[in-house]
Amino acid sequence: MSEHVSIEDTAGGVRLIRLARPEKKNALTGAMYDTMRTSLEQADASGDVGAIVFAGAPGMFTAGNDISDFVVGAAKPFTEAPALHFIRQLARTKTPMVAAVDGIAVGIGTTLTLHCDLVYASPAARFRMPFVELGLVPEAASSYLLPRRVGLLKATELLLLSQPFDADEALRLGLLNAIVPSEMLLDHALAKAATLAALPRGALQASRTLIRGDQAAVEAALEAEAVAFEARLRAPEAQAAFMSFLSRSRTAAS
Ligand code: COA
Repeated sequence: MSEHVSIEDTAGGVRLIRLARPEKKNALTGAMYDTMRTSLEQADASGDVGAIVFAGAPGMFTAGNDISDFVVGAAKPFTEAPALHFIRQLARTKTPMVAAVDGIAVGIGTTLTLHCDLVYASPAARFRMPFVELGLVPEAASSYLLPRRVGLLKATELLLLSQPFDADEALRLGLLNAIVPSEMLLDHALAKAATLAALPRGALQASRTLIRGDQAAVEAALEAEAVAFEARLRAPEAQAAFMSFLSRSRTAAS
């Protein structure tokens, strides 16, 4: 269990997975991925959890993968990376998932929402997928899911140019259900999750499977991305990008 992820089950059958590493803008470590993956597995296995909500803290959903872990992780097979195990589980989770995005949502902070059944954000939400800028490739099946959601040209802007976008644009692109004031966001997401959790489970899951379409294609995409991601992690241009970010942080601190 990571101390930076809190898991709370409500009486209405909703599991709240909340990121809590504010000093690093909720950047995700291996332990945080492992805690979230285990929680998703348990939710599917348990008869008690009818829906899951992902949330961060006010002003920060997550700054994405911890960049120090990218540096360390490059020496190890990516197939063993907690991030990949989490992504695989995210794609196969049967329990409906809801995201409540307030503030920054970088990298997997954005791509995670593509797997959620309902997505809500505050007006302060800022999305960005800077994979290519970091010398990497898209992950979490975003190379497959995003063009299907927003069209190829827009996906190219967001994934190749790492173009940031705000809540209004996310809503316009069909990546959000609604924009909700920050102070009401979590309650709103929890209420929607409770509505999902109260529906007949079998019908909900069967309908969800139909709506989501080709599961095998999603899983094939994330595996293909993982092969490319592993190669990119080791590339000098990626390592240089990671060091540039990390040295910027150190310089700012000194
Ligand atoms: N990995 C590791 N540390 C991170 C991080 C990340 N993804 N994102 C933020 N942090 C750390 C910073 O290094 C800093 O640490 P320090 O106080 O020890 O120096 C702290 O969190 C605060 O971040 P800071 O950059 O000062 O906050 P900001 O509000 O100015 O900017 C972001 C926030 C998210 C825009 C910026 O931190 C950022 O671009 N982070 C990297 C995002 C990223 O590329 N993620 C990987 C996607 S694949």
